[in-house]
Amino acid sequence: MIQQRTFLAAKVALLLLLFWLFLQNLGFIPVVLLIVVMWRWYRRFHAVRVSLWVVLILAVGWLGFKSIVLPPKGPQGELVAQDEDVWTSEIIANGVSIVNLNRTQGVYHRDGHPKTLGCALATFTVKDLSNLELSQPISLQQGVFKTPRQYKAWVRFSGGSPQIQGDWKPDARGVAIKLLGVDGDKLLPGMEKLRTQDFLMINNPTFFVDNVADYLALTRLQVKGYQQNSAALVFRYFFQDPSGSVWHPQAWKLREMREAIALLGWPPKNVLADRFYSMSAYTLGATGYVKYSLRPAPCSEGEGTASSWLWSFSGDALRHRLQSSLKEGRACFDFMIQPQNPEKNMPVEDLTIEWREKDSAPIPVARLEIPKQDIDPQLKSGFCENLSYTPWHALPEHRPVGGLNRLRRFVYEGISNYRHCMNKTALTEPPDDGSPVLPGNPCDATQPAPAEESSSLVSSVTSGKEKALKQ
Ligand code: HEM
Repeated sequence: MIQQRTFLAAKVALLLLLFWLFLQNLGFIPVVLLIVVMWRWYRRFHAVRVSLWVVLILAVGWLGFKSIVLPPKGPQGELVAQDEDVWTSEIIANGVSIVNLNRTQGVYHRDGHPKTLGCALATFTVKDLSNLELSQPISLQQGVFKTPRQYKAWVRFSGGSPQIQGDWKPDARGVAIKLLGVDGDKLLPGMEKLRTQDFLMINNPTFFVDNVADYLALTRLQVKGYQQNSAALVFRYFFQDPSGSVWHPQAWKLREMREAIALLGWPPKNVLADRFYSMSAYTLGATGYVKYSLRPAPCSEGEGTASSWLWSFSGDALRHRLQSSLKEGRACFDFMIQPQNPEKNMPVEDLTIEWREKDSAPIPVARLEIPKQDIDPQLKSGFCENLSYTPWHALPEHRPVGGLNRLRRFVYEGISNYRHCMNKTALTEPPDDGSPVLPGNPCDATQPAPAEESSSLVSSVTSGKEKALKQ
């Protein structure tokens, strides 16, 4: 009897050890051993059968919950990985390949968000924020939010997939807002005198990639997928470890896959009735980190918001709905700032972790109003296609932060440069008065520069960080 108990204890210890090895990311080997041991137990000790299954179910349940639902704790501040600049260069090169592979009728489109649903002239009215009582020690009156005033703005709505596709396919939708006539030096070296401030958002609060190294892995698979005409290849991203092996279940990105499914939200809805999020973080002067979002709002009391129905199964249903909605009347959004609450899990480096609104409520700081209008002319003239947005068209008070934002600085610049030069269009900003023109000479480089030397730029961004934060 005693012997049998000792034997049982030894087996339980072995079981725990194997489970622990599994947690240590040692892949399938301990899992196979675990199954073998359990099988032998199952046959020899009928009495422990039930408890074994309970242990197994609990373990699998816990692992599932941990890897699919529970967000990890992320760092609250910025952390620059050592090889970010090297990864950035390859990501730009992969972006150029994606642009080349996805061009249509000789036109080179954006790497991300190439499908223009429409672009409209809007107004962006900053509220008087001087008397707001805030629960956190942050001052909202920074940069463009310093004083109440109205800006003209070009708003472009887009489909996110790198390939231009039908609107009923699952996809993220984007909105990019370009404020015009913004005074003050901007962040990008050589572009300080630009008079625009851009805000870019997508209709989901989180992204499914949390760092630059993973983004590189994703773009490698994207390029391969487009070359081999296999859209499914990109799903390997969620099942491979940094070496590319898929045999380590602990490295599978199941939570990220859940975020990706949410990002590709379906069914599509009228973009004027959608909610958009910056997903990544920004500084707000020297007072802290924030994220932005956009929420449909009635333009005046009792007016109602746009209906989310598309009323069509056409491949361009979103574009048609946007056109018809704006022909019928105006649409408004509240532009909101969500300050980081340092007491909560609201990291700036990991975009897969949602900044929960119960941890810090977004505050409406401006009103975006898109007046009734016909958006056809600027769609047909190519004006929307030729606009260039980047989160780095920004005042220093609104500096983008976090790894993917540092990456975006070089990628947007590089890709925008590349597509404008290949299309022989002007790479400029629209004038303050809201005319739908992009003045300037078309880029005619026989060898367009994909991007500046990213390594020196990455270090200049990161050393500039301290300076910008102290402002
Ligand atoms: C993290 C949050 C992100 C948001 C909210 C976002 C949003 C957007 C939006 C709305 C656009 C369309 C801009 C337009 O209308 O012209 C866009 C374009 C683009 N995005 Fe992102 N994006 C994000 C992350 C990224 C990342 C991590 C990359 C890759 C490094 C990326 C690469 C691009 C590129 C290359 C373009 C096209 C730029 C051009 O040629 O003008 N985005 N993004």
